Amino acid sequence: MKKINIGLLGFGTVGQGTYKILTENKELIANRHNIEFNIKKILVSNVNKKRNVDVDASFLTTNADEIINDNDIDIVVELLGGIEPAYTYISNAIKNNKHIVTANKAVIANKSLELSALKNTYNKQIGVEACVAGGIPIINAITTALSGNEFISIKGILNGTTNYILTQMDEAGLDYKTALKQTQELGYAEADPTADVEGIDAANKLSILIELGFNKYVHPDNIDTIGISSITKKDIQKANKNNEKIKLIASVENNNGKLEYNVKPISLPNNHPLAMVKGAFNGIFVTGNAVGELMFQGAGAGSLPTGSAVVGDIIAIAKTI
Ligand code: HSE
Repeated sequence: MKKINIGLLGFGTVGQGTYKILTENKELIANRHNIEFNIKKILVSNVNKKRNVDVDASFLTTNADEIINDNDIDIVVELLGGIEPAYTYISNAIKNNKHIVTANKAVIANKSLELSALKNTYNKQIGVEACVAGGIPIINAITTALSGNEFISIKGILNGTTNYILTQMDEAGLDYKTALKQTQELGYAEADPTADVEGIDAANKLSILIELGFNKYVHPDNIDTIGISSITKKDIQKANKNNEKIKLIASVENNNGKLEYNVKPISLPNNHPLAMVKGAFNGIFVTGNAVGELMFQGAGAGSLPTGSAVVGDIIAIAKTI
């Protein structure tokens, strides 16, 4: 049986989900792939903090170097979020001969060119499935199963927090602030929810989809982005009267060879597939020149769904080691 050692950087919502899947499905994964995963060390900010999963304190550290400099660790899983110190940790881990799996869309979208150069130099892999749309395997879909298509458009609800807020404002009549508080309690929102409500998180994810689907890197700052913070109950009621739903849509379209992309709230007819995506779910509508129209829907945030994507990347990389 192949043995692979893992170091986790971060042990929040997604880190704990990843830990749970690798622990509870350990036997299933070993039987299916003939690989045994061992989580050797976990970087935390506070060793004594109460958590939803039971982990012996000897596995926890507050010093990232104990993971990055450990020669026995094969894959570093970065789940800290934000650009720094994540970028420095990822860079140093690659230089120390480690493959990377991350759910951190901010660092991938903002530092894509630098990280691509680095992973090529050191011949390492970076798994980014968990960066876009949580548990939906959209990265695998566009880079493998659909990779023979020219994409005409990719349009999606890529942020669970804002979709949850818009759904709660619509269906439960909640006001914006109460709905936002609920998403924070449920662990969907970013540490600073401004990234969610102002569309920045969706723009980061769109940047990754544009690069992988259209072979062009667009920095998230260069994507026209409007969030949902100015959407009122009145706007939602008006949309309802017109049989429409307001959704935060991230869109990239190949318009006769010219790529057009943006993130903005759009009123969609009730019967549009994306209008039916509710709560913290994400939905992605892909049009390819061979496959035609495809709709992906599922949990776009949360501990186990995002952990599922992280574990999928860990297994895919481990198979190549
Ligand atoms: N804050 C993000 C969201 C988490 O709400 O979609 C998943 O990327």
